[in-house]
Amino acid sequence: MRRWFRRWFTPARSPVLPSLQAYQQWASAYPPHAHNALMQAEERAMRSLLPTLSGSTILDLACGTGRYALIARQLGAGRVIALDNSEAMLRVSSLIGAACATTEAIPLASQSVDGIICGLALGHLPRLEPTFQEMGRVLKPGGWLLLSDVHPFIFLNGAQRTFQAADGRTYAVEHYPHLIADYHTAGQAVGLSLEALAEPGLQAGVVAPVTSTVPVALVLRWRKNE
Ligand SMILES: C[S@@+](CC[C@H](N)C(=O)[O-])C[C@H]1O[C@@H](n2cnc3c(N)ncnc32)[C@H](O)[C@@H]1O
Repeated sequence: MRRWFRRWFTPARSPVLPSLQAYQQWASAYPPHAHNALMQAEERAMRSLLPTLSGSTILDLACGTGRYALIARQLGAGRVIALDNSEAMLRVSSLIGAACATTEAIPLASQSVDGIICGLALGHLPRLEPTFQEMGRVLKPGGWLLLSDVHPFIFLNGAQRTFQAADGRTYAVEHYPHLIADYHTAGQAVGLSLEALAEPGLQAGVVAPVTSTVPVALVLRWRKNE
């Protein structure tokens, strides 16, 4: 069994760090590509639901070290804006012009972006509403939001979202499981209509404590009402 999976799924409790403190320690070992089997499953589903990007203005919100901003550029987006609240993650990224900002106060004009990609971040926030308010505000009418989270089943079954820090110790990052209904309600309140949904499991053959039929990620796409 892979080490990261053993860490995530063992019932042993690791000390929980607030997101900012956790990514400060995790950043140097966080490459801008899917670096474990859960991220690979999540990214496959994200790519399958990604609208055409050519010429569009795309916001990679909570971009981390830039995984989805880089993908958006490769796929022909006209302009890519990348924001994250961790200076440490932004320093590791190779993105030019990425800026430090929280999802709850996006420093962009209203109705200024065609699409938002937000990967594996909102589980760190106890409340979805302030971020959805902001995402709904900056999207153009007809624009889309593609978002992923670690599947709530994983956490409701007692797992933690852990990493190994440079000091060799294992820590968990604060995480709040959000149900599909929570996401649906948060989107509806700001004029976003849910139009596609995927709950991918791990690829068959990955050695892990869950089979490929158990969803490990949640991927949702909304459209802003015209
Ligand atoms: C698991 S990483 C995912 C990074 C990237 N989106 C990806 O999919 O590879 C979660 C990211 O969310 C960021 N984050 C957490 N809370 C945030 C907030 N309130 N505002 C902005 N970024 C936040 C963290 O700093 C971290 O970079």
